[in-house]
Amino acid sequence: MGTFNCIGVLTSGGDAPGMNAAIRAVTRAAISKGIRVKGIFRGYKGLVTNEISELYSDSVSNIIQRGGTILKTARCAEFMTPEGRQVAYDNMVKEGIEALVVIGGDGSLTGARIFAQEFNVPCIGLPGTIDNDLFGTDTTIGYDTALNTIVEAIDKIRDTATSHERLFFIEVMGRDAGFLALNGAIAGGAEAAIIPEYITEEDQLEEFIKRGFRKSKNSSIVLVAESKSKGGALDIVERMKKDFPGYDARVSILGHLQRGGSPTAHDRIIASRMGAAAVDALLEDQRNVMIGIVRDEIVYVPFTRAIKNDKQVKPELIDMLRQLCI
Ligand code: F6P
Repeated sequence: MGTFNCIGVLTSGGDAPGMNAAIRAVTRAAISKGIRVKGIFRGYKGLVTNEISELYSDSVSNIIQRGGTILKTARCAEFMTPEGRQVAYDNMVKEGIEALVVIGGDGSLTGARIFAQEFNVPCIGLPGTIDNDLFGTDTTIGYDTALNTIVEAIDKIRDTATSHERLFFIEVMGRDAGFLALNGAIAGGAEAAIIPEYITEEDQLEEFIKRGFRKSKNSSIVLVAESKSKGGALDIVERMKKDFPGYDARVSILGHLQRGGSPTAHDRIIASRMGAAAVDALLEDQRNVMIGIVRDEIVYVPFTRAIKNDKQVKPELIDMLRQLCI
């Protein structure tokens, strides 16, 4: 059984609704077990620049319902260098922080894995990202809220799409993962989702057009997963104008509004469970693991597995979407 006098908590990478609920849970679960907690501001940057302050039970009052992160977040170039990580470690020691809880996505957990190995620091990760792209957990903190935001947007755009009898391409986030696009399409009753895990974007567009959506419908909505390399929804509409002229198509890019807002009950609950589990994991001498939830049970996933980028979208969901949108 591990013993700790003081642990640190930070949020890193893109913010996600529910991060505050996770910070609250880590803080209060630790304090309940007699462990002090220090909040590190602006992710790993705060470790390098020593922006650290103690969190008490009331420091995390009234935050469970708030989106964003009270600890702020950043992507930190210094922490990517051995010199930067040495400064971070020295600050940690100076502050008496004996272990770290890192809340973030794959980049943040990769940082934790390297840091933990280099300095033999116990690190526990919590999957905090709207993208849902971490392996070994059914869902990530923020994903459900972002999905609900997307569905709300689809419902609104559908009013316009129906009135104008138009085709809308709605671009959603997800970095290199199609979970938000595919499940957003299912939940929003969209006609298709164009996602990176399937055949090429061009082929997916062609397949959609060939399905002849015009036969039964005057308007359509297609969700498109953002794509830094390929150009996303704007690119698709350009191609459409060229290859399939005659469609009145529009693009709506939802952007960062998908990352904001009050977390859903589901995100608050998983964030609370995972935050408390992170403290238990440290006391059980776990290190270099991400907390996941699989079939409603807490699991420990080694960082190397969680960030391997092999979480799959279910191909049967693509087929189902096709059947349901006739
Ligand atoms: O990882 C979360 C995410 O919102 C991705 O879906 C998106 O690609 C990326 O972050 C955007 O990052 P930034 O806010 O730095 O532009």
